[in-house]
Amino acid sequence: MESGSTRVNTIHWELFDKEKVMKISEIRLQYEKGSLNEQIVGDEPLVFFEKWLQESINAKVMEPTAMVLSTCDSNGRPASRVVLLKGLSENSLHFYTNYLSPKGNHIELNNQVALLFFWPELERQVRFVGVATKISENESDEYFNSRPVESRVGAVISPQSRVISNRSELETAYKQMIDSREVESIQRPEHWGGYAVSITEAEFWQGRPGRLHDRIRFRSENNKWIKERLAP
Ligand SMILES: Cc1cc2nc3c(=O)[nH]c(=O)nc-3n(C[C@H](O)[C@H](O)[C@H](O)COP(=O)(O)O)c2cc1C
Repeated sequence: MESGSTRVNTIHWELFDKEKVMKISEIRLQYEKGSLNEQIVGDEPLVFFEKWLQESINAKVMEPTAMVLSTCDSNGRPASRVVLLKGLSENSLHFYTNYLSPKGNHIELNNQVALLFFWPELERQVRFVGVATKISENESDEYFNSRPVESRVGAVISPQSRVISNRSELETAYKQMIDSREVESIQRPEHWGGYAVSITEAEFWQGRPGRLHDRIRFRSENNKWIKERLAP
């Protein structure tokens, strides 16, 4: 859209079976599904996170493990994309990717990252800040070998985020590998594996009526969690 445009953005918004045409700026929901306080969140952010994740799974939210990962390039220019949470350890969240992708390159230069979960069905957001490091090769192998063969082939043949001339290039490489005799014994390529994000900050957000949302943040200070309530 042109900058400074005065165009009025209208959309078709289907809410409670009644279709309305309205301005984007008029879309407004009331949040009233829950509340949050210092006692409920406890003293360990990842323990509480696990509880909320379980509740999201129970509520059948779409892609409960999808999280937005933000990194910065060498000029400090940020980039965000969705990745899937594949494991939790005592103080870290794990995901898998191509180490040679832009996100992998960013982490190589600056391993400070942010992670964000948004579970709209429960009116909840969770934000993390942390430090990403590669997990052990054994752990990456174990996860790689547990993936369906199609996903393993995909990881091997796709040069993630590189420009390709067309889709058939990708499909041909995929088919060649799927049809080959070695497909069942395919090994994890060195450039593919996991990261563990060790968290230094966590914030739990629960939508409340009248925009007076609940926000409880943990930040790490001298290896201890400081818990604080933030204004919405
Ligand atoms: C729901 C969803 C799940 C995704 N999960 C992953 C994942 O676990 N790992 C991954 O590398 N990319 C995943 N992607 C693709 C990334 O968002 C992104 O397109 C890709 O990793 C390239 O990112 P980069 O160029 O910033 O490195 C997922 C995308 C979506 C929409």
